[in-house]
Amino acid sequence: MDRAKLEDMDPADVPDASRELVLQLYGIGARRVWVSDREVPYPDGRLIVSTTDTAGIITHCNASFVEMSGYDRDTLVGSPHSILRHPDMPAAAFQQLWDEVSAGRIWHGYVKNLRRDGAFYWVYATVIPNVRDGAIKSYTSVRRKPSRRRVEEAETAYRQALAQEASA
Ligand SMILES: Cc1cc2nc3c(=O)[nH]c(=O)nc-3n(C[C@H](O)[C@H](O)[C@H](O)COP(=O)(O)O)c2cc1C
Repeated sequence: MDRAKLEDMDPADVPDASRELVLQLYGIGARRVWVSDREVPYPDGRLIVSTTDTAGIITHCNASFVEMSGYDRDTLVGSPHSILRHPDMPAAAFQQLWDEVSAGRIWHGYVKNLRRDGAFYWVYATVIPNVRDGAIKSYTSVRRKPSRRRVEEAETAYRQALAQEASA
């Protein structure tokens, strides 16, 4: 994974930041992020779609992905998907995602994503392994608007999982 690179966020992009943290990302190392408490609602009637290689490097993304993340397409393509990783997400959620899809199974789940401007957006994601000739070639994630009730349930579950991870 030595081709994976990810720059720190730019605090100038996050004028309403409430937290500054350093994330430890798999295969990448430390990334400094600035996070605000502002939610950007998932746009109605849109699908946010991206494809990665088997190492999680973004190879394609649609216009809704570009708009919601706030990054240029040129920055996104070639970057690790953890460019959207929010510090409120427990590692266990992504561990489960990777365990499932690398075994050839579909994963569904709720994800809180971090935008370039430090705000966040919740999605309901379906991650699909793309198999050809018996081998996984890539992964595609299709996101939909999550229900508020499910987001609230996920928030509670993730807060507990994060606390557990912090004390482990
Ligand atoms: C197709 C696909 C889509 C993904 N989408 C996201 C996403 O939207 N947000 C996110 O934080 N991680 C996403 N991930 C998981 C990341 O690859 C990564 O595991 C996660 O951000 C946590 O970072 P870490 O594995 O470096 O700890 C996706 C992975 C795959 C294979």
